[in-house]
Amino acid sequence: MSRIGEEVESAIEAVRLSLRTGQIVAFTGAGISAESHVPTFRGADGLWRNYSPEKLATAEAFESDPRLVWEWYDWLRGLIHAAQPNPGHLALTELQRRSPERFTLVTQNMDGLHEMAGSQDVVKLHGDIWRLRCVSCGREGRNEQTPMDHLPPICRCGGTLRPAIVWFGEMLPVDQWDRAMDASRSADVFVAIGTSALVYPAAGLVQVARQSGARVVIVNPDPTPADELATWILRGPAGEILPRLL
Ligand code: OAD
Repeated sequence: MSRIGEEVESAIEAVRLSLRTGQIVAFTGAGISAESHVPTFRGADGLWRNYSPEKLATAEAFESDPRLVWEWYDWLRGLIHAAQPNPGHLALTELQRRSPERFTLVTQNMDGLHEMAGSQDVVKLHGDIWRLRCVSCGREGRNEQTPMDHLPPICRCGGTLRPAIVWFGEMLPVDQWDRAMDASRSADVFVAIGTSALVYPAAGLVQVARQSGARVVIVNPDPTPADELATWILRGPAGEILPRLL
């Protein structure tokens, strides 16, 4: 028996038709990687249930105990390293391949699974766990070592390297945010997939798109505060629903 409810069936068909014309934004959160066995942040098995964001995901936490923060990210990088893109990621790659000029993928994820699935020009609002940045000289580069052989990793300038991701209280990368805003303002269909829509400013993109006239689609097995903005809500796992939108 499919986990997708009957009422979702007719909505899937309506969304599929709506994706044939106009500008599309796909906006993803941790839920799209859940079926790749990367844990989400919130919810029953969420990462933040066992770990406190204030203790781990802030610049202050890193400054006071970089090794502790790195131990967590080193563990998370190991989990992500073992993961493969799932049919949800692959469906978005295919959607882009069919209509590259009218498709933008905006993600809050730092796991790199969209790129691994073949998505191009991904707008990355929260950075990339596979990139490291020196807190002293600012040099940034890719690093896929897992586990790291030394924690915290040290830059050749002698400074401490941190994950090049956005922590609580930090600004989003301006160029990525501008691209996300532009795409959301000109979207005809805005598909929010696997996000709790709780973390701002990213979550505000749903509202921006809605106010600019986009039809909003939510793909999520659970309710979110963004549901009230939706034209269609597709309750179910992204890995099952997204391939059916093609
Ligand atoms: P959350 O962990 O807050 O939310 C994950 C969402 O995915 C929830 O609404 C789940 O119901 C949904 N979900 C779970 N399994 C799913 C599946 N198979 N298919 C579709 N949806 C599913 O993750 P985000 O909304 O991404 O920030 O969290 C936003 C930000 O908070 C993250 O980018 C991260 C975190 O702190 C930073 O690291 C800066």
